[in-house]
Amino acid sequence: MGKIVVMGSFIQDMSVYTPAFPLDGQSVIAYELKMGLGGKGSNQATAARRFGADTVFIGKVGSDVFAENARAHYREIGIDSRYLFTSEDVSTGVALITIHKERGENRIVVVVGANETLTPEEIDQAEEEIRTADVLLTQFETNAPSVQEFLRLGRKYGKTIIVNPAPMQAMPEDVYQGIDYVTPNETEAAVLAGMDEVKDLDDAREAARRILARGCKAVLMTLGYHGSFFTDGTREIHVPPIKVKAVDTTGAGDTFNGAFAAAKAEGYDDETAIRYATCMAGLSVTRPGAANSVPTREETEAAYREHMNG
Ligand code: RIB
Repeated sequence: MGKIVVMGSFIQDMSVYTPAFPLDGQSVIAYELKMGLGGKGSNQATAARRFGADTVFIGKVGSDVFAENARAHYREIGIDSRYLFTSEDVSTGVALITIHKERGENRIVVVVGANETLTPEEIDQAEEEIRTADVLLTQFETNAPSVQEFLRLGRKYGKTIIVNPAPMQAMPEDVYQGIDYVTPNETEAAVLAGMDEVKDLDDAREAARRILARGCKAVLMTLGYHGSFFTDGTREIHVPPIKVKAVDTTGAGDTFNGAFAAAKAEGYDDETAIRYATCMAGLSVTRPGAANSVPTREETEAAYREHMNG
């Protein structure tokens, strides 16, 4: 079992399932509302833990019932949440998610709330956990100073670092320097690479070349129906997705990142880790919710045997 430290967001998700996405100014009657655990950091920590990693989560919530939901979840699945800080002034983050009932695709609007108030000094309190981790994982749903501090400590101890640049937003350029894996989806990759879009493998290859030029060691891109694409400038790995009926794609990228990080922490090579991540993320889209949809290691192993061997 490897040890992972995830620094990032917890968000309370409010998801509605709808027959169609509303146009500007239009109202659409939805089928139902579901409340669930979300936030990219928390979803990634959940996936890492369910994969089997010893998982520490650094984040910040408000002083409200949503925070209690988060803590109960971490207790239940065994995530170390001693570094989940509480803001007395700012509420827990909330996401409003619209999910297309037929296609499973989503549109998300996030109020990051307390996540934005996480401080570098709070990150420093977890320095010993960072020092003893195998892999560090973070995203862009908190704030730049916290991300930079987490990366500074990771570099100080020579850790394997994964940066998931989501949601895409301007960050100081040094966040990409020397990072082992930068893991954008296709839209994030297009922004990072300065391209109009990334719609196929040729685009992905070009985008990766441009992202590598920003100073990271490898790019691992998720491409939706095209699967994923990895390159470190010399090797290329392309893993197609597993064939499933998607009911809700919320958090699939997070599950991919958490599983990849956990598999790397366990010592798997890049290709095997990507294949595990593909299976775990593929299964997650067959279920509603974000953290709630993350499958177990046993389910992931079964999918691996079915889809990845031979
Ligand atoms: O990546 C999916 C997540 O993004 C959701 O769970 C939502 O909380 C938003 O942060």
